[in-house]
Amino acid sequence: MIKGFIFDLDGVITDTAELHFLAWKALADEMGWNFDREVNEKLRGVSRLDSIGIIMDHNAVSLPEKEIVELATKKNEIYVASLNQITPEDYLPGARELLTHLRQEGFKVALGSASKNSTKVLAQLDATKYFDVIGDGNSVSKSKPAPDIFLFGAEKLELKPEECVVYEDAESGVDAAKAGGFHAVGIGPKERVGHADVRFDDMKQATLFEVKSHFKDLF
Ligand code: BG6
Ligand code: MG
Repeated sequence: MIKGFIFDLDGVITDTAELHFLAWKALADEMGWNFDREVNEKLRGVSRLDSIGIIMDHNAVSLPEKEIVELATKKNEIYVASLNQITPEDYLPGARELLTHLRQEGFKVALGSASKNSTKVLAQLDATKYFDVIGDGNSVSKSKPAPDIFLFGAEKLELKPEECVVYEDAESGVDAAKAGGFHAVGIGPKERVGHADVRFDDMKQATLFEVKSHFKDLF
């Protein structure tokens, strides 16, 4: 029986990819590094330190660990400042409707995001009220594709993985959901999330009705 839902944040509830891009781009420009939207796509669902690693690999650059952490912190300061522009108008189409619907039907709901800035993003959206549990980049040490963040959410909701549906837009996020034994809903193109149990192009299509129809024996 499905009793709960666990949501990734960036790319599922709201689209922060552009703000992450602008912050990484500002850092890359300052460092004289090459960075574009194509490389930014590879950072979807990837932790902050792994992200800077991907950008440095792309530029064939290596630096001492301390300096890498300082640069990642600098990017984060730019990113956090930009979060002030997020408003309750910035849900991805369909996301607020789905969260409202889940509340009305009494499902348990958790956040399972890699971001250490999740609570700030949720507050800007006025979305905190939709979640029983917040699992974010501060909750576990192993990031996606390890299933830890979703296992954390399920445990706090007092549910088993097979009682939860996970919504994810990142390849590594779908990997994490499957590794943990969750039912995975992929949001985005086949090439990225085609390995989910069911896939939708966007959140507008991923309604409770559609998910119930897909997993009909489990509701
Ligand atoms: C994920 C994003 O949700 O969070 C990644 O998709 C990001 O792009 C990661 O790098 C970590 O976010 P933060 O806010 O902790 O730097
Ligand atoms: Mg995401």
